[in-house]
Amino acid sequence: MYTRSRLTTSALTLSLGFAALVAACGPPPPVDAPPSPTSAPSAVEAPTAMPSTTPSATPTAAPTVAPTAAPIALPPGMPATSAPLSATKFADELKKLGLDGKKAMPDLEKMDLAAKKKLMPLFTKALGYTECTGCHASDGDYHTSTRNMKISRKMWSQFVAALRDDKGGAVFCDSCHNGANKVLNRMDHKTVGKFMHENYVARLTRADKADNGCATCHGTPMQPDIIAKLWGIGAK
Ligand code: HEC
Ligand code: HEC
Ligand code: HEC
Repeated sequence: MYTRSRLTTSALTLSLGFAALVAACGPPPPVDAPPSPTSAPSAVEAPTAMPSTTPSATPTAAPTVAPTAAPIALPPGMPATSAPLSATKFADELKKLGLDGKKAMPDLEKMDLAAKKKLMPLFTKALGYTECTGCHASDGDYHTSTRNMKISRKMWSQFVAALRDDKGGAVFCDSCHNGANKVLNRMDHKTVGKFMHENYVARLTRADKADNGCATCHGTPMQPDIIAKLWGIGAK
């Protein structure tokens, strides 16, 4: 009896241990969580000092907050400075797809599947995602709509299709994202406004040749919160 119950207990402990292990490793990250960009440093790793579990007796123990840490911690993923507009690195690939900015850019929805499939790796690289699941529900499910797909459709129709660079050439996702999911440092609105003027107004033109201004993207009256308020795309 004793041995048997011990056996059962240890089997239970084992399976619990396994469950805990699985729980610790966790399920794959949800689609809507921003996938870790390859280039941007992880804000989670940098400033957070691991609290030690056993209180150290030695007074020389390192303080939990390093004195060199930045005085103001940025929210996860937020870059220290906003990413300036850059020329697309995919000009050749886009040209092969007929997307050089000279003709009207097609609706994303109406592109044929073969063209979409060639475009997808460029989306992925432009945003600094390592997987297609940065936007898609799972590998193989490219149909179920996700938050990042909704945003991407709007970024295409409102920015890539509607804007050109200052020479009339194509603007692509990487023109603004340049390998990062988050591109704005939003700590100070005045600085963002200055950045927007110097990059998104002065260095971009409109495909319809109208004057480019804040209203091109923010509407009238000015709505700073484009994704959530102007486009109505919520957190989920
Ligand atoms: C930045 C977001 C984003 C990333 C990353 C991304 N996709 Fe997409 N994908 C979209 C959007 C948005 C659509 C929908 C286009 C439309 O409206 O028809 C789409 C559509 C597709 C379609 C067409 C589905 C259909 O029914 O027409 C396929 C196939 C696809 N993606 C494959 C991929 C693959 C493979 C990868 C990785 C190499 C990938 N995608 C990465 C945003 C993304
Ligand atoms: C004119 C500049 C510009 C262009 C072009 C552009 N984006 Fe964006 N995009 C932004 C800005 C600014 C944000 C907000 C980033 C932030 O919060 O730091 C953003 C946010 C996003 C987000 C949400 C990121 C998050 O985690 O909140 C996705 C997804 C995205 N863009 C996809 C795309 C795709 C795909 C393309 C190309 C079809 C594209 N963008 C083209 C400027 C641009
Ligand atoms: C080419 C498109 C574009 C133009 C032009 C543009 N912006 Fe933006 N702006 C964006 C995008 C995209 C975001 C991110 C919106 C979001 O996250 O919902 C943004 C965000 C902002 C924010 C930060 C809002 C916040 O809550 O953090 C401010 C402030 C801002 N813009 C000011 C301006 C001003 C001022 C101008 C004109 C000088 C301007 N923008 C022109 C695309 C543009």
